[in-house]
Amino acid sequence: MPDSLKLDTSVPHSARMWNYLLGGKDHYPVDQAAADRITAVFPGMVDITRHSRAFIGRTVRLLAGERGIRQFLDIGTGLPTADNTHEIAQRADPSCRIVYVDNDPLVLVHAKALLTSTPEGACDYIDADVRDPDRILREAARTLDLSRPVGLMLMGILGLVADYDEARAIVRRLMDALPPGSYLGLNDGTDTDPAYVRALRPHNASSGAVPYTPRSPQQIEGLFEGLELLEPGVESCSRWRLEASPFATPPEVAVFGGVAYKRG
Ligand SMILES: C[S@@+](CC[C@H](N)C(=O)[O-])C[C@H]1O[C@@H](n2cnc3c(N)ncnc32)[C@H](O)[C@@H]1O
Repeated sequence: MPDSLKLDTSVPHSARMWNYLLGGKDHYPVDQAAADRITAVFPGMVDITRHSRAFIGRTVRLLAGERGIRQFLDIGTGLPTADNTHEIAQRADPSCRIVYVDNDPLVLVHAKALLTSTPEGACDYIDADVRDPDRILREAARTLDLSRPVGLMLMGILGLVADYDEARAIVRRLMDALPPGSYLGLNDGTDTDPAYVRALRPHNASSGAVPYTPRSPQQIEGLFEGLELLEPGVESCSRWRLEASPFATPPEVAVFGGVAYKRG
């Protein structure tokens, strides 16, 4: 069995914890226990996962609908769930082409569920590390035409790259390789809720999982440097471009995101 297919069920993994928090079935006891330790201190963690997914939905609908984007590169995809990126994009236009990238072996095992493209479009999956953007770009070019605009999605992944300068360099390398007219959609957990920061401290110190670094909204905004942020800029995902609803504005959650345009 290649190394990339070896599942380590002795330490929690972010994709599997995320799946558990979203109510999925693709996780192990170690992931459930780690997530439960976080929600015991910070019950709002569940809201973070749900608002993140809703933000992804609104981002893809905006890009594939209003903005005419037909190609997506979704890095840090996560385990298949309801309304995966290709399903949302191809509802807007069945010819959309999507490349998913993740480095978790369980996501690779379940990747078939991400490869259910319409006949007019295409889906591919790359088992790769976001820290290797050149390889990602090379392999994505099998499915995407990188001379045409792409919607790059980095959702909930850069908090797993602890060094801020490295995270910025990854975004820069990827966006530099995409043509004008491309977009970046990005969200990540923030340090805006002290209970979240408190809950992550022991998780990062001793669970064995890759540490997750919540950043300030200003740092999240810094990841978009050189790009033109669409209204309303970087905002809590619970409030970003809400679709019309009869309900009051939801409370802020500690995950912020935005979508930005690369001008020529
Ligand atoms: C918090 S989950 C977010 C999943 C999905 N993007 C969402 O927002 O619902 C983070 C994802 O990033 C993946 N990931 C973490 N570190 C990575 C790395 N270095 N390279 C590629 N993927 C990574 C994890 O396996 C996981 O699927």
